Amino acid sequence: MTPDPVDNPSGRRREKALLVQPHAPGSQDPGLLEEFVELARSAGADVVGTILARIERPSASHYLGSGKVEELRAACAASEADLVLVNHSLSPVQERNLSKDLGRRVVDRTGLILDIFAQRAVSHEGKLQVELAQLGHVAARLVHGRSGLDSQRGGSIGLRGPGETRLELDRRLLQKRREQLQARLEKVEVQRTQMRRARIRNAMPKVALIGYTNAGKSTLFNALTGAGVYAADRLFATLDPTVRRLAGAATPVALSDTVGFVRDLPHDLVAAFRSTLSEAREADLLLHVVDAADPQADERIAQVNAVLAEIGAGDIPQWRVYNKIDLLASGLAAKAPATFWVSAKSGEGLDSLRQALATQLGEGRIRAKLQLAPAQGRLRARLHALGAVAGESADEHGWALQLDLPEPVLRRLASEFSDESLQALLLVAPVAPTYNPHTP
Ligand code: GTP
Repeated sequence: MTPDPVDNPSGRRREKALLVQPHAPGSQDPGLLEEFVELARSAGADVVGTILARIERPSASHYLGSGKVEELRAACAASEADLVLVNHSLSPVQERNLSKDLGRRVVDRTGLILDIFAQRAVSHEGKLQVELAQLGHVAARLVHGRSGLDSQRGGSIGLRGPGETRLELDRRLLQKRREQLQARLEKVEVQRTQMRRARIRNAMPKVALIGYTNAGKSTLFNALTGAGVYAADRLFATLDPTVRRLAGAATPVALSDTVGFVRDLPHDLVAAFRSTLSEAREADLLLHVVDAADPQADERIAQVNAVLAEIGAGDIPQWRVYNKIDLLASGLAAKAPATFWVSAKSGEGLDSLRQALATQLGEGRIRAKLQLAPAQGRLRARLHALGAVAGESADEHGWALQLDLPEPVLRRLASEFSDESLQALLLVAPVAPTYNPHTP
């Protein structure tokens, strides 16, 4: 077989992986295994077999029971698997013991996801974050000793990425490297905050595309902005928040793409990818992209919403965008009227989404008079810097300003300055009509 240049960019042989899907007694969800198979393929593995493991009480030494380990050993030999992937978090001890008994590398769910992130990280910040998360994962394993399999050849899944060459370093060096990375990340974070401020100064309302992995966010992002962001039929094609202007909108709207959600994203990963998710947290509007052809769409919507709530983005207004309608039999689209139905591929439905965005964010402007006292010079300067002042006159009481600015910007200013007169404007000023997909 000729190597597939996309699936195997390094030209290395695809590793043969045997997958273990644990489940509690009496509960089996075939969707879990399906997703795990996709994750493994996404990491470049050749899936040679899957094994279900009923876990009543996880063993502290191996996670799996001794009978299951025996079965696995036989299956590994029969399928000539290079490594075993377990769809659960394993402690360093469990991972090492399994690895020893099976004579193969064992990678847990966190390790696998980190590996995919490592392969996909594009920006400087993305790479730093992946390395930091990997070092954390690896450090815990080094502390407990090496598996004895480090010298085995041909392996790469779970060992790849910016941290790859450092896996051999001792704990002290790892710690130093982590501190270095942390410092660098903090710097990047400062730069990002400055850029974010600049965007607010530009009075750009912010929209973030969020959704389950593979829903088509990057493709939709490209279709809406005309940008060439990498899209592929694999998980996590996007690792870096990318912000672009929405093409053709009267008022510029900053649209950002975010990394895809997966169920049970390990908590330390949520932290490591904070910057990607912060684009979602600071958005004025979330476009929740859903794969309309996915039979588990409803469950995935709930999972995404759970993570959003976790990162403090649960209250941000959200529009549901069902994508890939080109894959649906006609008529199905009627089941949820308060949403958008689009195909990022064929372009169907994109015009009405664009129009709704422009109406919601561009024309949702507040035009009102504001009286400022002489002591409010800082707020006045900010309003001018925002280009929000359409006219102004001065008298002995201060200034009378004629404001014209997007409502989300006024909202941000009102909370930043804790200014009552701005807050009052939000309550009483007439707002140019905004689009509300939830009104029939
Ligand atoms: P992650 O980066 O993993 O979170 O994925 P994503 O949500 O950004 O998905 P992406 O845009 O990479 O698309 C995933 C796959 O779905 C790609 O193969 C796309 O070509 C395909 N896709 C996206 N939109 C459509 C669509 O409207 N119709 C069809 N048929 N396929 C689509």
